[in-house]
Amino acid sequence: MDFRFDHMASTDNILADLKASKTAMELVIGAGKGLEIALPHLRKMPDKILEVNSYRVTYGEISELVAGARKAREFSYAPYSHFNVGASIFAENKSGLFARIGGCNVENASYGETKCAERVAAFKAVSEGFRKFHAFAVVGGFDDSISKDIRRAAQKEYITPCGACRQVTNEFEANPCLVIIARDTGEVLITTLQYLFPCGFGPRSLGMDPARYDRHKIAI
Ligand code: THU
Repeated sequence: MDFRFDHMASTDNILADLKASKTAMELVIGAGKGLEIALPHLRKMPDKILEVNSYRVTYGEISELVAGARKAREFSYAPYSHFNVGASIFAENKSGLFARIGGCNVENASYGETKCAERVAAFKAVSEGFRKFHAFAVVGGFDDSISKDIRRAAQKEYITPCGACRQVTNEFEANPCLVIIARDTGEVLITTLQYLFPCGFGPRSLGMDPARYDRHKIAI
């Protein structure tokens, strides 16, 4: 998205661009809560560091995570919607080990029992002990059974995590948890889960710290 005004010059310019925004993601960028970068640009400067709050991530790590989401999408099971989604989570376990864990959407003939790629990846990560999510990438789009017009219209949007996925990933977010949304046309939008899911009900609402949680002994 191209801004018409210089945001550094005046807050009025930001407001003018926000007013002109057509999509939710344009609003994210316009509000300064997100950054749109082209994938080739990220790949060209793998060592460049992006700092979000206190979390530092390199462009290389971002492109790796996008590549992981694309790879995960290869297994997307979407015979009903024909909308194929892949996600990859960069997570940490208790020993300070990091891993990239992928997931794809898994649809179901009942429709309602479908699971999104982000939640599949999240549950895979947690079930392997990786409970601290530093970042995740998502990539989605229709297959070629869907008309070109619809594909084009959908591709203009960024595939943001649905409400249920925001709730589930919020449980394990490292704060900040970067959300990296890639389009097949090459643009990548980088924002944070906190921006997409403000004031959420989470473990802290129940006095729980997921990093410190240790299950009780199995008993009979
Ligand atoms: N879907 C995801 O996997 N992640 C999202 O963020 C949005 C939607 C899936 C669910 C369903 O299989 C298909 O995309 C169409 O909604």
